[in-house]
Amino acid sequence: MDGAILSHDDLRDAPDLDSLTARLAERGLTPGWIDREVPILYREPHTDFLPVHWKYEEARAAMDGAARLIGHDLAERRNLIMRNPIPGNDIATARTLICAYQTILPGEQAASHRHAPHALRVILDSDGAWSVVDGEKHPMLTGDVVLTPGGSWHGHGHDGAEQAYWFDGLDVPLVHLLEPMYVEGHPAGMEPVKRTVTDSPYRFPMERTLRELEAATPDPEGHFGRRIRYETPEMPTIAITMHRMDGGFRGRPYRCTANSVFVVMQGSGRSTIDGRAIDWTYGDTVVSPSWKTAEHSAAEDTVLFQMSDEELIRWARYWRFEAMD
Ligand SMILES: [Fe+2]
Repeated sequence: MDGAILSHDDLRDAPDLDSLTARLAERGLTPGWIDREVPILYREPHTDFLPVHWKYEEARAAMDGAARLIGHDLAERRNLIMRNPIPGNDIATARTLICAYQTILPGEQAASHRHAPHALRVILDSDGAWSVVDGEKHPMLTGDVVLTPGGSWHGHGHDGAEQAYWFDGLDVPLVHLLEPMYVEGHPAGMEPVKRTVTDSPYRFPMERTLRELEAATPDPEGHFGRRIRYETPEMPTIAITMHRMDGGFRGRPYRCTANSVFVVMQGSGRSTIDGRAIDWTYGDTVVSPSWKTAEHSAAEDTVLFQMSDEELIRWARYWRFEAMD
């Protein structure tokens, strides 16, 4: 009998395809030729992720409520995650990205930790908040973008007088997919500060952004206004692009295979994504999922922050971009 099993005659001599399929299932094999609810290959890029708009004014009111109702002892990082409202999704904002609004009260500190995901902050309202990244204290002033690459120690605090608010963006959904996740707390609680820095590869102040945008040439294809890319070699999964659109600018529609999240850093305007018109203003967050047609226009002079998986997609040679007019 053992010989019969080892010879796999039950597979070789299966009386019909259904029997073979059933016997394959017991062995962790599935035929490639059967129809599937989600096919293995399909003709066009597809995502279930939706274009979504979160209003900063609303989130800020919620953060004020949270700051009153939940102490720093219970929620050291007091944040509100922007969940894309698709079935089965718990935390992801876009396919590879998770975003949140976060607030900190004067005098509070969020202890240092480090983790696999790469992270950044877009500072929406702060005078006196800071991040310590690998022992270096970085000021976080309104308009700054501050990076904490995966594996770097980072903690936050606030020496100012008014409640501070910022936007967090991380590649957590990608880390969940690839599974290199870890997190650990710093043995000292808050990492000791070795020195304070203002000029750092981890901090992009608003005045630098505005200066470089002023010197940038407009997108010759007309999809965007002026753009600069902030180099982030230590966090290659997240590409940061800053956009400047003059009031009245209307960009040509496009679609591409990257997943993007936009944060409004100045001005107001409209993005139409997959047919949904989203009117945004200061601090708002807008998701533009892969391969959904998108176009952006500015009602007044505007600065947009964009984080995306474009560099990752390009590295993998999955990048496609198409004009849609
Ligand atoms: Fe963190």
